Order: sequence, then structure tokens, then C-alpha cells
Amino acid sequence: MQKIIKYWYSLNFMLCISFHVFAQDKSRFSFNDNWLFYEYDSTKGLIDTLNFGSWKPVQLPHDWSIYHDFSNKYPTTPNQGALPGGIGWYAKEFLLPSTYRNKYVSIDFDGIYRNSEVWVNGHYLGKRPNGYISFSYAISPYLNWNGQKNKIVVKVDNCKQPESRWYSGAGIYRNVWITVHNAIQIAHWGTFIEPKVEQTTTGIKTTITTSTTIENKLHKEGKILVKNIVYTNNGKQVSSSQSNIKLEANKSTTTTTINLNNPVLWSPENPSLYTMKTYIYDTNGMVVDSCSVDFGVRNIHFDRESGFYLNYKSVKIKGVCLHHDAGALGAVVNVRAIERQLQILKEMGCNAIRTSHNAPAPELLDLCDKMGFLVMDEVFDMWAKKKNKFDYHLDFPKWHVQDLQDQIRRDRNHPSVFMWSIGNEIREQFDSSGIRLTKELVTLTKQLDSSRPITSALTEMDTTKNFIYQAKELDVLGWNYNEKMYPDFLKKYPGQKFIASETVSALESRGHYDKPSDTTIFWPANSKEKYILNGNKDYTVSAYDNVAAYWGSSHEETWKIIQKYPFLSGTFVWTGFDYLGEPTPYPFPARSSYFGIVDLAGFPKDVYYMYQSEWSDKTVLHLLPHWNWEVGQIIDVWAYYNNADEVELYLNGKSLGVRKKQGDDLHVSWKVPYESGILKVVSRHDGKVVLIKEIKTAGAPSKIQLFADRKTINPDGKDLSYVSVQVVDKDGNIVPNADNEISFSITGTGSIAGTDNGCQADTTGLKRPIRKAFNGKCLVIIQSNNKQGSIQLKATSPHLNSGTITINSKK
Ligand code: GAL
Repeated sequence: MQKIIKYWYSLNFMLCISFHVFAQDKSRFSFNDNWLFYEYDSTKGLIDTLNFGSWKPVQLPHDWSIYHDFSNKYPTTPNQGALPGGIGWYAKEFLLPSTYRNKYVSIDFDGIYRNSEVWVNGHYLGKRPNGYISFSYAISPYLNWNGQKNKIVVKVDNCKQPESRWYSGAGIYRNVWITVHNAIQIAHWGTFIEPKVEQTTTGIKTTITTSTTIENKLHKEGKILVKNIVYTNNGKQVSSSQSNIKLEANKSTTTTTINLNNPVLWSPENPSLYTMKTYIYDTNGMVVDSCSVDFGVRNIHFDRESGFYLNYKSVKIKGVCLHHDAGALGAVVNVRAIERQLQILKEMGCNAIRTSHNAPAPELLDLCDKMGFLVMDEVFDMWAKKKNKFDYHLDFPKWHVQDLQDQIRRDRNHPSVFMWSIGNEIREQFDSSGIRLTKELVTLTKQLDSSRPITSALTEMDTTKNFIYQAKELDVLGWNYNEKMYPDFLKKYPGQKFIASETVSALESRGHYDKPSDTTIFWPANSKEKYILNGNKDYTVSAYDNVAAYWGSSHEETWKIIQKYPFLSGTFVWTGFDYLGEPTPYPFPARSSYFGIVDLAGFPKDVYYMYQSEWSDKTVLHLLPHWNWEVGQIIDVWAYYNNADEVELYLNGKSLGVRKKQGDDLHVSWKVPYESGILKVVSRHDGKVVLIKEIKTAGAPSKIQLFADRKTINPDGKDLSYVSVQVVDKDGNIVPNADNEISFSITGTGSIAGTDNGCQADTTGLKRPIRKAFNGKCLVIIQSNNKQGSIQLKATSPHLNSGTITINSKK
């Protein structure tokens, strides 16, 4: 115990000196370091009797579930990723600089999964059941000063299961902050910037309405000056406003308008941002609080007949749904992990994300603002009616108003957020309470933001049976699946506007191909079957885009319909990436989803290139499958292509014919009797070669090759390098069915944050430094520590030449 206390003091010292004042009198610090964690699977014991000795140091953000091996025994079930829930305790001792003694200190949590309870120095601050919402507690009244340490304890209870339909993670899995204010302060999420864009004869005119809510802890009336200054993203001041206001004794809200002439408009292609800095001055001219908010200027509009418009231009929403996990990192928020996902999706031509079915990490929205993605920001997966026995429906009656309001307040300044969804496949569609609840949720949302349309993702297309529809409050109808009914939308739903809030639910394992490729099968086939029992023994699903869940459809089938009708404003494909949990169509050991266009490790499945050929302006030619089969087998060969009018296939130099996409075709194909060698495809436009792609028959596995997405990373303890691992033959051809087990060792200034291979039924824990290749590939995620230097990763496997790679960790 003595040792632990000594350890605390050294940590506390570090904590004090690392404090840094960022802007004027208001400061925000990361509070992620130096926590202890204790995983506890019963409810016995009180916080006062917890013995710190048995706790482990952890770095936040932290998800304890992901450290476990997959198993069928957890009450969470494979739907939640076959990883455990349980109870976790977090604690930290800290000192604050004495200069904060007369200030107002709060602790801000971006998200804790779930049922968090927080104590500071034994004072109970409160409980927050919702695992995705951000929240804040004022802690000043309970703090110790004069070198006396403070103790914060957080209990996280994810014990009662099942409570989710996908992997949630467990713990303080998002960032924690300390904010320090003066007595007169801008309220938490107290700034709302609402740019209004009008097209005039002289150009685009923008009026920015800013409302700032100011809290007055002095509790007496006074006078203040509020100044707003708008800067471009390279720091040039472009506009400002100021107003003297009478400060009420408790809370005041002031609204001002600022004009911006011919602003650079925000769009996915040009995600141009402005920054508004707000300063509050007291009567002595001293800045008492300030804040800085990024925003974008854009106009959105849905037209019933012609779909979605951004900045007065028609835009098809080419979106994907995402859950919040980061594959092998679990639910932990990591900026680079999110950025990598978005980069992969951007390359595909995706321009929109649906945050299914909960409040996203604030970092996701920041990145969508900067990288250019439209976001459908979704609030709930259930209201008062359950989907699982212990899910949020139990908390909905008490918490939905606050949770909804907090999400809207937090997210409403993001230009990326272009619409709100008040719920996904809500059971109250089928219950008359749906009318009342829809009205309530829409009213609450509009009170805080009337600038964005509101939808809800519906499944019941018969309006006489759908009570959410009958509330007649949704600005845009969100339809999930049922794509065959979309063409009749205008006729059947008079006066309504359309978005396909969720589509497809096709299933694929990367690099696995079952023939015939030209018939779509449904796994499971209908609602009576829970799983497919006569599927593949190795729990794979064909990657030819020829398998879907019975409520879904193939990618191609769906996109053909969406792209054809202008009034179909766009689609959100289920899903962009595979995610942990919901391993339809298989039972355990399957434990992650098959729905992704990209697998859990971040390797694109073939259908990624279908989207890329349709959604992006890149020139695409993609050939599938691999070229290692049994002699004489008839193989379906497919090519996705664009920017060309024909493609020709060659096997060992012999032409197998020219193909051209006909009508709405999205790929071309050949039936080829297999012989080993080189399969080559050439795309041509006006007879000129556009692209050539080749696949060679691979020999026996011979060596391991490593490729890093980034060879230099920041020494900040967070940054990541994603290293792709390939098993290749002696000539360097990837061996498409290689499943060699590979061990990883690391030296230098980094560690292994996780390993993965995209195989949905691999039961080796994702934190282990060992991984079988799946169809020739796997992945290692390297994380920097806080030191500059180099990181060496070595990959070894019996009978293979090992691979090594060096990553630099420097500023
Ligand atoms: C939808 C649901 C999603 C996911 C998907 C799988 O109905 O909204 O959350 O479960 O099915 O196909």
C-alpha cells in the first residue's frame, strides 16, 4: 500500500506540471492519464472499502471487454461480440493547481458504457445510464486544496445482459476532460451557430445567427460585452459582432447576427470550415470566458420529386451506416482509427455516414466536418419498447428528454450533421404511443435546432399500421430495406420526401467465393430460421455479392434502384465496415458481422470496387476471384470497371472475350475453365487501353510481407500505424487461401494495440500478438508511446521467412 501511495504522488506531480492553460481564462485539459481500473463481476462492496492495491493502471479511453477472448459463455451472447459485460471501477487521485481554487471546475465525459456513477471525494455526482451520451458534472464544491489530493471514482455497470444488439464495449471508452471556468461562463454546449444561406442576384449571402448562453454563478445582475469574431481556416478575420447585454442573475441567452458575403461553402468535396471565437468581457474590460467553435456554411434541401440538394446542387447521398467500434481496438475512441475508416470510405466515393444507432464520438463528427462527410446523426435504437430485456427501454422514460437534448446541443454546430434521426426501427411504429412519442421527440429536437430535417428509420411501409408515420411530424421518411417498393414511393406516399435510411444487408467474407455467382441466396432464408445451419463449415460467406439476409438484397440490386430515381435522395448501406457482434447468418464461433463493404481489419471486400466504380471519380478496374483453383473447375470471373467502354479477359495470353456492361449492369463476367497461370483483364475506351489488372496463380506460402499505412507516427501515446501482413509465395504473389499462424514481436517506442484478419469466426482475442492469416492476410495495429524513437515489428511463422518493418515515432 505504501508503494501505491508513493506511486500516486509521483503521478500527481506529473499531472500538476502537465496542466496548461489553453485559451484566455477558460481551460480544458485531457483527464485521461493515470487512472486505475478494477474489473469486478458482482455488486458487493462499497467504494470506501475498495482496496486500491489490486487495481491495474490504465490509460483512458479504455474498453475492458476487448481484452477478453471470445466465448459463447457470456450472457452478452455473440450478438454483442461474444465478449463480456460486467462491472468495472475506475479511480484516480489528482491535485489541481491552487489558482483554480476560486474557479468553477467541471469534469466532462464524452461517453461511458454504461450506467456510470461518479464520486469525487466521496460525494455522489450522479448516474448516467445511456452509454453513448456525453455529460458533465460540476465538481468545485467537493475539491480539496493546499496539496491535499482528490479522489475520483467511477463505477461502470454493464452487468445485466443482454442489453444491446451489437458490441457496445464497456468502460470509459471515450475521452475525459477537465474544464475550468470563471463565475461568469459560457454554458456547456452553450453556443449555437446557425448559418442561413441565400442565393441572391449578387452571389451567396449568409447570415449567421449565434446564440450564446451565459451562466452567472455570481447570482447578481450585471453587464457584459459579448464579442464574436469569425475567422477563415487560415486564421483570417472575416467578420465580427459585439453587443453589450444585461446579465441576469442566473442565466442569460444572447443572440446576435453576423453577415458573411460570398462565403466558401462547405461540401464533401470542399469541406471548408470557419471558426467563431466568442469572448465575454466584464465591465473592467477583462475577458472572463471565451470559446472557439468550428462551423461550416452550407444549404441543405430535400425535394420530394428530385431528391437532395446541397448548396443548390443536386447530390445523391452515397452513404453507409457505421457502428462505433474500431475493430481490434474495441469501442475505444482513437482519432487515427476513425480517420483511417473515413479515408477508406472516402476513397470508395462514400459521402455520408449514418451513426447507427446512437450518439457518435465527438471526434467522428470533427473528422466528418474536416474530411467532408454528411452525417445522419441518430439518437435511439429503441424508445420505451424493448429490443433486449435490459436495454435502454428501461431508462427511456426517465432519461430520453435529457439524452436527446444533450445530443442535439452537443452536435448542432457541425456542418457535417445534415439531419437528425430520432430512432431506428422503433417498436412504437406498431403501437399508438408512437404518435405521442414522435410528436414529443420532434418538438424537443426542433426547439433546439429547427434548421435540420428530422427522420426516423422505418420498416413498416403500410402507413395505416405505422404510428410513427401517422404522427405526420417527420420531414423526410426514412425507409429501411423493402427496396422493391421504392419506385412507387411518389404515388403511394403523397406529399412525402424520401431517404433510404438503411439498405442492403448483404453478407460477405473477404476473399471467399462460392459459385454460382449469379443467383442471390438468402441466409437465413426467412424469419423462422435464426441461423443458417447448412452453410460453410468454416463460417465463411461468398464475396461475389450473392448472399444477403432475407430482409435485405444484394449491393448491386439496391444501388440500381437508388441511382435510377431522382426522388430517391440516397442510401445508407448496412454497413461500411464489419463490426463486432451481430454475426448473421451464423451462430458462434461467428462473432462479428458479415455486412461490411470493408472487413473488420479494414481490408476492402470486392464489392468495395463496385461502389468505387459507381460512386467515385477514380478510374476503376477490379478483377475477382483469386486464381488458385482445381484444374477443370469452371470459375465465374467478374470485373468491376468504369471510364471504359469494354473489357477483355485473357488467360495465359489467350483472349476469353470482350465484355461490355449492358443497360444498368454493374459488372461483367465470364465462365472460365480453370488452368493455372495468369488471368489478365484490360479495360479500353475508344480502343485505347485505360487500365490492366492481373492475378497470378500463387505457389506455396513462402514468406511474410509487411506494409505500413504510415511509416512515421506521432510519439503521443495515441497514434497508430496499421501494418498489413501478407503471406506470399517465393515470387511475391499473395497466397489467397493461406492461413498460417503468425506471431508478432515488437521492440522500441511502441506497442501492439491489436491484431485482426477480418475472419468473422476467429476466436483468438483481438489484443493477442498472434493471428492466423485469413485468405492470405492479417493486420497488426501499432501504437506509439510517449517517446520519440523507432519501432521494430517482427512477424514470424514456422516454415515461412519472417518479415520485419520499422516505424518511426517522431514529431
Ligand atoms: C436492421 C437494423 C440494424 C441491423 C441490420 C442487420 O434491421 O436496423 O441495426 O440489425 O438490420 O441486417
